[in-house]
Amino acid sequence: MKNTLFWRLCAFIAFGTVLLFWALSWLTNHTETSMSFIDADHQQQLLDYGKQAERILRYEGEASLASWLQDLQQKEDTWAAVVRSNITPFADSSLPNQYIERFQLGRSVEWKIHLYFEENPTMEIPFSDASSHLLIRLPQRMRPGAFLIYAKVFLQIALPLILLSILSFVLYQHVMTPLRRLENATNAFSEGKLDVRVSPYLSVRNDELTRLAATFDHMAERISKLIYNQRQLLADLSHELRTPLTRIDMAVDFVEQNINPKQALERLRSEASTMRNLVEDTLTLAWLNNESPRLNNDDFDLVELLDVICEDARFEYPDRRLTSVLPENVLITHSSQIALGQAIENIIRNALRHTPTESEVNVSFANCNNQYTLIVRDQGTGVPDEMLSDIFKPFFRVDKARSSDSRLAPTQNNHGFGLGLALAHRQIAAVGGTIKALNYYSEKGHRAGLQIIISIPH
Ligand SMILES: Nc1ncnc2c1ncn2[C@@H]1O[C@H](COP(=O)(O)OP(=O)(O)OP(=O)(O)O)[C@@H](O)[C@H]1O
Ligand SMILES: [Mg+2]
Repeated sequence: MKNTLFWRLCAFIAFGTVLLFWALSWLTNHTETSMSFIDADHQQQLLDYGKQAERILRYEGEASLASWLQDLQQKEDTWAAVVRSNITPFADSSLPNQYIERFQLGRSVEWKIHLYFEENPTMEIPFSDASSHLLIRLPQRMRPGAFLIYAKVFLQIALPLILLSILSFVLYQHVMTPLRRLENATNAFSEGKLDVRVSPYLSVRNDELTRLAATFDHMAERISKLIYNQRQLLADLSHELRTPLTRIDMAVDFVEQNINPKQALERLRSEASTMRNLVEDTLTLAWLNNESPRLNNDDFDLVELLDVICEDARFEYPDRRLTSVLPENVLITHSSQIALGQAIENIIRNALRHTPTESEVNVSFANCNNQYTLIVRDQGTGVPDEMLSDIFKPFFRVDKARSSDSRLAPTQNNHGFGLGLALAHRQIAAVGGTIKALNYYSEKGHRAGLQIIISIPH
């Protein structure tokens, strides 16, 4: 399909031009030939002159014929003569009969006339006994090809112009129709019709413009997805901001009315920090979504990073057991310590938060299939199987999806905003890795917890 349009245009122009020249040449020849014969009426007229001359000579004699010839010459503004055709070889020479029979001074009336000769040809009309002939220079009014000049102008200028215009128009349409469709689609897209696509109309062409259409669709798909995600993110963010804002209003009221002002101020500070985190996380998510960056500037020891994260997590959740099975060290190259660290921290915190007290969260490591695999396994409730991919969507929380009371404030039910895994998913993608969630089941078939599996390239 490479350069199909180019070859198609080449073939079209090459064949079209050859066909055009051939058609023009054929038409010119054909027209010239058909114009080179004396009109049938005029042929008859010339033959009639011959018969008339013969009759006058036979019945009225030479004198009458001479006067008739005078009249004829005047009438047709030409010269005419009557000649005997007996050729007489001399100097002891002889001529075969066939030459004597065929000998002619002029042309037969049905012969082709050369249109380019300036002088009119001499026509010869034999008498019935072939002994004499009427010679007459073809009268101007009978000369064929009077319209040759017009035919030539038409065939050599007008017709090529018309045919080339048609050829150009067909080519123009062939190229412009899809471009016009693309232009309309671009206009519609810029006016906000994000679902407009062009590939279904242009895929049959299978050429460069089909590729252009596919590129446009790809771009439209990506941009519309980005715009949709941004809108959704903004809507979710403003929705999530309402709760801390309401609580800030309430705290301000308390301060104004001097009701437990110290606690209210503390509340104000914590709500402001919640809002800051929420906005920062949302902005980071929007940036990761839009730019799809590749974060590859760091080389670091993954085990060291995990140790620090686990240490902090143990301190925060002293009533859960956080165990890990890790090698001595694991060198990660061309990655991002911050992005990977935040993602893993989020996942371990989730696991600890959803695991009952005194239960265990385990972090294990494997090196197989040319990639490092990190598994964080908890003993919590797990996630309904149909929501295993949803938990990576921004602002998605299992409790919110289940409960009709979505007004429940995140901090009230001890849950976050639903941004942690969405961020982790994009942060891990930004270092070239993947993340997935799987439930695991007890021997009795009960859901026994969730495991998050992170794969990181070497
Ligand atoms: N280990 C887990 N066990 C059970 N459910 C989980 C686990 N981890 C995540 N989830 C579910 O997935 C949802 C999304 O998790 P995510 O980390 O994105 O958000 P969050 O923890 O609720 O809030 P945030 O991380 O923004 O503070 C959670 O609300 C929870 O319902
Ligand atoms: Mg979380």
